[in-house]
Formats: sequence, C-alpha cells, structure tokens
Amino acid sequence: MSPAAASAQPSDPMLAGRRLRQGQAHRIVFANEKGGTGKSTTAVHVAVALSYLGARVAAIDLDPRQRTTHRYIENRLTTLEKRGLTLPTPDCEVFRGETTGDLIAMIRRMEATCDFLIIDNPGRDDPFARIAVEHADTLVTPMNDSFVDFDLIGQVDAETFKVRKLSFFAELIWEARLRRSRMTIEQQRPEMDWIVVRNRTGHVEARNQARLHKALNEMSKRVGFRVTQGLSERVIYRELFPSGLTLLDKGHLGELGTSHLVARQELRALVKTLSLPAFNPEQGELEIA
Ligand SMILES: Nc1ncnc2c1ncn2[C@@H]1O[C@H](COP(=O)(O)OP(=O)(O)OP(=O)(O)O)[C@@H](O)[C@H]1O
Ligand SMILES: [Mg+2]
Repeated sequence: MSPAAASAQPSDPMLAGRRLRQGQAHRIVFANEKGGTGKSTTAVHVAVALSYLGARVAAIDLDPRQRTTHRYIENRLTTLEKRGLTLPTPDCEVFRGETTGDLIAMIRRMEATCDFLIIDNPGRDDPFARIAVEHADTLVTPMNDSFVDFDLIGQVDAETFKVRKLSFFAELIWEARLRRSRMTIEQQRPEMDWIVVRNRTGHVEARNQARLHKALNEMSKRVGFRVTQGLSERVIYRELFPSGLTLLDKGHLGELGTSHLVARQELRALVKTLSLPAFNPEQGELEIA
C-alpha cells in the first residue's frame, strides 16, 4: 500500500501507561536522512535525561566517521574523571560491523542489559540506518523549522504551501513500518510511535513557522506521525559538547544565567511528550526533577 493512498492516524501516545516487559529494552531511534538536524544533540540529551531518572541507558552510534554521540559521552567521561565526579551517564558504543546481521546482534547484546536502547542514525540512508528504523519502538525525527528540511518528508506547493506529495524519507519510514509489523506481533513489541521533533526553533520568523506547522500537521495525518516541540536554538547546546555535560548536570555548569532553567524545562517537556514506558514497577510517569 502506498502511503499517499493511506490515511493512517498518528500513533496513539499510550506508551506512558505501558510498562517495559521483563528483559525487553525500549528502543528509541533518532533518524533523519537530512544531515545536521539535531539527531545527535537530541539523542544525547534524552539519553542523559533517562539516566538521571535511574534508567539503565545504552546508546549505539551508527555513524563511525562522525560518531558525535560517542564523542559527547567520551568527553563526559573525561570531564567526570578530571573533576572526580559521578554523574548519570549512558553506555555508548560505535557500530563498526559489516553486515546488517552484525547490527541486529549488537542491538540484541546491548538491550539485554538496559532499559532504554538509543540509536543515533547518520544523516544519510544506508542499510544499517534502515535496520535501525525497523527496530524502533519510538522513532524520533528531529527537523529544523525550514521547508528545506521538510522537503525530505513532503513537497509543498510553491504558492499555497499545501502538501503536494510525500518524499522519499516518509516513504522509507512507511515501508519500514510495514516490515516491522511482523516484529510487533512475533516479539510482542509496541506499535512504532513516530515523532517529528521541531529542533532549533525560535530563530525563524512567525509566518514561516505557521506555514510549516500547517504543512506538518497535514502530513502527520497522512503518514502517521506526531509532531512535538524539541530544543530551541541555544548556544549552550553547542558549547556543552567539549565537556560532555548537559543542562541536567545542575551545579557543574558554572555561571549560565537564567535561560538554562527554561532550556532544562524544554528538555523535560520533550522527554514527557515522547511518552516512554515506565521502566520500574514502582514508577509512575517519567518525570525529571
Ligand atoms: N537546539 C540547538 N541549538 C543550537 N545548536 C544546535 C541545536 N541542536 C543542534 N545544534 C547544532 O547543530 C549542529 C548539528 O547538530 P547535530 O550534530 O546534533 O545534528 P545531526 O542531525 O546529528 O547531524 P548529522 O546528520 O551530521 O549526524 C551542531 O553544530 C549542533 O551543536
Ligand atoms: Mg549526528
């Protein structure tokens, strides 16, 4: 079935009421074929946020050349060692295998000992990125508020800004979802929840934002994703990389002014809207302090 012909509704964000099955990690995959949309930045922040909640978090960096997520965590470990600190930190490994079978084996190995497995895809299409998408319980697609980014999901009319057709990335996700439906039944996994996260918001003018918002909403009904607000444009997200620290590492960031309080709040809100399952029996909703 072609996605254009279908009218899937966005996934029901009911994972929050769900609990992880014994021995089953929840897989969160950050994917967008477009480069530089904020996949790694968002992946690291979500991974650290979940670690702060007490979850066991592991991450796979699927980009062996750039390995941004792995470098971020490496930097974090160096800072912790230098300063003699212990802060919640996810495990992270770079995928260097040669076959899709190697990747599946790595996913199985790592998820055996964690509650959340985060996979950070490269900004391109390759067979490994496709396998990762198929394995996603939650698929997060960060995009910037720009029709240049939107173009990978859908093409809009030049005059009216109405969606004319789906683009290849949306088609790819649609096909991955169809292939995954077998996994959903056989392995008793949840339906894939696809969330498009608007990243680096705040720096574009209101009319463009409103047009994009409309186009995204129209598209979300056609292909079945949810749209949510991600991280806004802040220098701090770039500045923290060398130290590997995040906004959640209160008391270790030096003088930051008050804007980081707002930033921490937006990260909290993002984790909440991901509607992830609870990972321990006593826990209610996922809340970052
Ligand atoms: N919310 C934000 N505010 C400011 N800068 C940001 C924000 N999110 C990401 N960036 C910056 O944008 C650039 C791209 O981000 P990032 O590396 O996370 O994207 P990516 O999608 O993982 O890229 P790639 O496709 O190359 O893997 C980086 O310089 C990063 O620091
Ligand atoms: Mg990246």
